[in-house]
Amino acid sequence: MTEIRTVGVIGAGTMGNGIAHVFARSGFPVFLYEVQQAALDRGLETMRKNLAREVAKGKLSAEEQDAALARITGTLDRTQLAACDLAVEAATERFEVKAALFAELDRTLPQEAILASNTSSISITRLAAQTKRPDRVIGMHFFNPVPVMTLVEVIRGLQTSQATFDAVHGVALALGKSPVEVHDAAGFVSNRVLMPMINEAIFAVMEGVATAEAVDQVFKLGMAHPMGPLTLADFIGLDVCLDIMRVLQEGIGDPKYRPCPLLVRMVDAGWLGRKSGRGFYTYS
Ligand code: CAA
Repeated sequence: MTEIRTVGVIGAGTMGNGIAHVFARSGFPVFLYEVQQAALDRGLETMRKNLAREVAKGKLSAEEQDAALARITGTLDRTQLAACDLAVEAATERFEVKAALFAELDRTLPQEAILASNTSSISITRLAAQTKRPDRVIGMHFFNPVPVMTLVEVIRGLQTSQATFDAVHGVALALGKSPVEVHDAAGFVSNRVLMPMINEAIFAVMEGVATAEAVDQVFKLGMAHPMGPLTLADFIGLDVCLDIMRVLQEGIGDPKYRPCPLLVRMVDAGWLGRKSGRGFYTYS
């Protein structure tokens, strides 16, 4: 079984910097790869803030924080990933982007290394087909905010080997996470269930059944959700929600997965939720 010592994280966005954070905090040396210096700097800055927040909450000592930061090497040079036993890809949620990356990672990382994707809905089997090591390709789906949420969906592609599954399951436990085994189907379990709920909440707003605030109150007060579905949609990113609905619609084929027209219009307008300053709510 591949022993995982050094980890590469591809993408320093919301998910990527959180994934790098939890690996570094758990003692793994991490190469955090980005294509642009500005995106890398933003990701590293977010990670510093979130580690400092853990120190302020007494969950981490200042020494542990410094040690975690020292384990992270931010890089724009993909060849540095050749030192990694595991790569976790957390790039844009588009098949073409991820497919090109998997082909590239397959050429860069050692033959025995494992290539994982943090995809929230794209087929692991299709990503594996871009490589010459489909038995060593797997899904490792984290949840936002990564340092806080304990779930990792571990997704077996059709050709994922048992050794690869066991190695990634073990790594998730080493991060203090709770891995749940899932098979490769559009949206896996989390987004197959969560996204239609969010999409339906948007239909309710579009059809004037209730305001966004009222829909969110129903779920917070009636179902004890920490965030209502529209606050959560803003938190995840409306563009990400739309991409996932399209994967469900295409992958499962049932018209019940059609994206709500209001969601499409909001994304067209650039109202992407918290990250753009406006979604169902406004953010300063
Ligand atoms: N890094 C480190 N710690 C963080 C953090 C971060 N980025 N964000 C929050 N925290 C910590 C806080 O410090 C706080 O710690 P304590 O409990 O020690 O006080 C704790 O998390 C709670 O945070 P807050 O008190 O600031 O705020 P809150 O109580 O409102 O909780 C929340 C915030 C954890 C985000 C909560 O609202 C929540 O659980 N929301 C739902 C999140 C969710 O559903 N995520 C999944 C999205 S789906 C996804 O990610 C996958 C996909 O494929 C789309």
